[in-house]
Amino acid sequence: MSENQDTAGGYYQRHIFFCLNERANGEDCCALHGAKAGFDHCKQRVKQEGLAGKGRVRVNKAGCLDRCAGGPVAVVYPEGVWYTFVDDSDIDEIVESHLKNGKVVERLVLPDSVGR
Ligand code: FES
Repeated sequence: MSENQDTAGGYYQRHIFFCLNERANGEDCCALHGAKAGFDHCKQRVKQEGLAGKGRVRVNKAGCLDRCAGGPVAVVYPEGVWYTFVDDSDIDEIVESHLKNGKVVERLVLPDSVGR
């Protein structure tokens, strides 16, 4: 059991979804901006940190989340915080700060104005 189980009360304490959408027609999409690498790294870090599983953290793939202009994007529930990221160090910060300790990484938060 993690010591950080106080926020959600759900099956998972926190759930992060990564848009991995890839558009066959060549239009811009998160897949063209490193989404898969970010997802894979997050999955690996969460496992390494022992955060994965019931009462803890789940990392999932998602299709288009309709905020493509900010891609790659990921969203963390239950807080409903949206992130954009560039590299593995950004993912490391999201894992350590938010997924593990519940502290939002403000510098990576996707502004509300960013849509499709
Ligand atoms: S392609 Fe990722 S949010 Fe639309």
